[in-house]
Amino acid sequence: MAFNRNNPNNDLPLLPPGVKIETQEILKHLATASRHLGELNGLCATLRDPTLLINTIALQESKDSSEIENIVTTQDELYHATMESANATSAAKEVLRYREALYRGLDVMKKRKNILSVNTMVEIVQVIKQNNAGIRKTPGTALKNAITGEIIYTPPEGKQVIEDKLANLERFINDNEFSALDPLVKMAVIHYQFEAIHPFIDGNGRTGRILNGLYLVQQGLLPQPILYLSSYIVKNKSLYYQLLRGVTEKNNWHDWIMYNLTAVIETSQLTTGKIRQVLSLKEKMEVELKDVLGSSYKHELLQLMFELPYLKIEIIEKKGMAHRQTASAWLKKLVNAGVVSEQKKGKTLYFINHRLITTLAS
Ligand SMILES: Nc1ncnc2c1ncn2[C@@H]1O[C@H](COP(=O)(O)OP(=O)(O)O)[C@@H](O)[C@H]1O
Ligand SMILES: [Mg+2]
Repeated sequence: MAFNRNNPNNDLPLLPPGVKIETQEILKHLATASRHLGELNGLCATLRDPTLLINTIALQESKDSSEIENIVTTQDELYHATMESANATSAAKEVLRYREALYRGLDVMKKRKNILSVNTMVEIVQVIKQNNAGIRKTPGTALKNAITGEIIYTPPEGKQVIEDKLANLERFINDNEFSALDPLVKMAVIHYQFEAIHPFIDGNGRTGRILNGLYLVQQGLLPQPILYLSSYIVKNKSLYYQLLRGVTEKNNWHDWIMYNLTAVIETSQLTTGKIRQVLSLKEKMEVELKDVLGSSYKHELLQLMFELPYLKIEIIEKKGMAHRQTASAWLKKLVNAGVVSEQKKGKTLYFINHRLITTLAS
């Protein structure tokens, strides 16, 4: 039967795809993607302090992945929210929950012998949405054009239908013998299939993109989920939607997979570049801090400026690095020397590692 976007797509085929996927063109693109991702992986392996970069890069990924769903924040709102969640905008809170969900997913996957299960997907969406949402039970979910309201796609309906398709997806993800496709190709296939099943009422886009990152870790392609993939998708959003439809309506896996491999190539290079820039900024700031603070220099302070790009005096105090007056004097000197910039918000003074923010955001 011909596909009708107004009817639930209960005929969505199970995986693996029934067409030959690894054509010459895809294999060639795949080789390039693997090489670039390998470079990023190599760089991550040399990092002395990986969590520091991961936190900040994961926050940017969270921001862009949320932006695909029209949850838009500025860097300033977002970093304020990391420090003071009570007054944060709802969009910023949602972005922080995305990052939390990414970490939760990673943690659960590691605890469960590296298995990315349907239960883990449910846990992820619950952290994003802060509710007890589970697999859709009731009909009525449809993807609509945001402007015209026209239905673009109606996902499968019926709890059992959805669960069967998810069980098949779970096997495709975790049983490496089930399909001989390359993991990077599989990542694209998994993302399409997850979005086409659309198991939740909301949060499918974000959960699906978190799965991309976790899958790369599961397959040993990266030590941490730091590939900044959503930055490519947010910039090529209409094509993303169009190609998802292309798989459903024309069985066009080729263009979808090429798109995803391009995303891997571009964002591997981008992420590698960002990490290198952050590392060199850190070296530069170490010299500056030593110069400005002299014998008061503390490596811990430098570290903190990269962990919390919006720093407050009370944090330095709480960490036991210095008393309030001393910390305040250090920061003032650093502001005068242009190393950090000062921002007053309400009664609180923030000391911003502005060059780090610019590097991460560009
Ligand atoms: N035609 C389509 N077929 C399947 N999935 C689609 C299609 N168009 C968009 N999507 C996916 O649906 C996501 C949006 O679903 P939604 O549940 O609203 O996610 P979120 O709550 O994270 O906003 C998009 O990000 C995309 O991944
Ligand atoms: Mg949504």
